[in-house]
Amino acid sequence: MLTLPLTIIALLVSDASATPTRQPRGISLDLHRRVQSRSVEELGVWAKNHREGLAAKYGGRTTTRKRSTGTNLLVNQGGDSSFYGSLAIGTPPVAFDVILDTGSADLWVAGSTCTRGCSSTPTFDVSASSTFTNKSTPFSIVYGSGDASGALASDTVQMAGFSVSNQVFAVCDEVSSNLLTSPVSGLLGLAWDSIAASRATPFAQTLATGNSWDSPVMAFQLTRFLNQSRTGESQAGGSFTMGFVNSTLYTGDIEFINMPTSTNSYWILPIKAMTVQGSSITVPSGSDAYAAIDTGTTLIGGPPDQIANVYAQIPNSQPGTGDLEGYYMYPCDTSVTVTFSFGGKSWAVSPADFEVQEVSRGMCMGGLFSLSTGDSAPSWIVGDTFLKNVYSVFRFNPPSVGFAALSGYSLSMNGNLDLAVPSATIGSVSAFATAGGSSNRNSDAAVSLRTPSLISTIAMMSLWAILAN
Ligand SMILES: *[C@@H]1O[C@H](CO)[C@@H](O)[C@H](O)[C@H]1NC(C)=O
Ligand SMILES: *[C@@H]1O[C@H](CO)[C@@H](O)[C@H](O)[C@H]1NC(C)=O
Ligand SMILES: *[C@@H]1O[C@H](CO)[C@@H](O)[C@H](O)[C@H]1NC(C)=O
Repeated sequence: MLTLPLTIIALLVSDASATPTRQPRGISLDLHRRVQSRSVEELGVWAKNHREGLAAKYGGRTTTRKRSTGTNLLVNQGGDSSFYGSLAIGTPPVAFDVILDTGSADLWVAGSTCTRGCSSTPTFDVSASSTFTNKSTPFSIVYGSGDASGALASDTVQMAGFSVSNQVFAVCDEVSSNLLTSPVSGLLGLAWDSIAASRATPFAQTLATGNSWDSPVMAFQLTRFLNQSRTGESQAGGSFTMGFVNSTLYTGDIEFINMPTSTNSYWILPIKAMTVQGSSITVPSGSDAYAAIDTGTTLIGGPPDQIANVYAQIPNSQPGTGDLEGYYMYPCDTSVTVTFSFGGKSWAVSPADFEVQEVSRGMCMGGLFSLSTGDSAPSWIVGDTFLKNVYSVFRFNPPSVGFAALSGYSLSMNGNLDLAVPSATIGSVSAFATAGGSSNRNSDAAVSLRTPSLISTIAMMSLWAILAN
């Protein structure tokens, strides 16, 4: 739909009516003939250019779908514990920082009526948005050790030059403590609609499948500050791109592996091989080897027996107790290299990422921990401990995940305290989409919504709090 500001419409109308009185009669007839002699095709071309030109000039929108690409600069929060970007909600758009999470599929932000867990972070005031609609459907989502609840709503959501109208998301009024660390106001789930607690088509999936992107891919470059002793609470986090891969950020080929499942849910790859200190670890076959590739999880979680096998290769390592149950400690002076292969190349987790933190004299916590996931969730959760070591690409068609080696440019960002921490940037919108069918699907959504419980960033935030004490 073309919408022009009222002043422009008034201008067009007055021009048209002014023409006959200003022009001599003869010229008016000439004009009349010329219009008639224009073919329907010519008229079509003119009409389209005229409308799109005006729309572009005055910031309106046309029904013509325009493909585009976009980049969102990320912030590395709490020494690699989470990575957040920014989006904007409402009319006029208001910017919010959100965790970018490929391990879930819902968008939610804390609302200004939030009563629990949102006191120190910006919240969304729905009364300030003229395009906001409260769908009044209760929403709740459960993560590994946190939850958020509120009500579903829809509004215009913008990110990195893309705008989706009627995007369904949740405005939350109760959020577990530790879930939101200022300035983060919520979370953008980047996985597939089948695991969306809201049952809405996720923002990214709408853009990818609606041909708003040049190419149906989104990609992450995540920085490492974990082993930099003077790291601040916020550092440059790398980038998130939509609709393209940025060749400045990786070298060589991107190794794409197709997802093993017919239903798209999490971004899943099967682990085909693993090594620890050069020795192979036996990996089960079939769905027991499925791993969710999850930017919203700080570490790497795997089945208890597999994780025990990993630490059996590291002399003098020992399981944690109490609050650290499920985690393992190992001598900090051991440089540990773990590799993963998903069917092609072998990708290494650097010793710097494996070493999470010293927890007692000379003993460090390792980046792989044991986790029993629910039946519907993959056995492994491969989070940022791995993803900081590669350029990762999430491709909607065909559904697949790709990894490439980081470029020198990307590597030079790691631990670089001189890099500016990006502030929320929304950019000007170059492509529009309308959320697909989600409003109908949601109109009779169940009263209680749950998503398979995953250990997320949020769980790690709690762990950080434990370690800090
Ligand atoms: C939306 O409607 C529900 C149900 O009436 C209400 O509880 C909730 O506070 C509303 N949300 C907002 C953000 O106004
Ligand atoms: C951090 O780890 C990376 C990767 O192993 C390494 O290249 C870098 O030198 C380390 N930085 C510091 C400050 O130790
Ligand atoms: C790719 O990334 C580099 C480094 O961040 C940036 O300078 C460049 O503009 C990006 N390219 C595109 C096409 O966005």
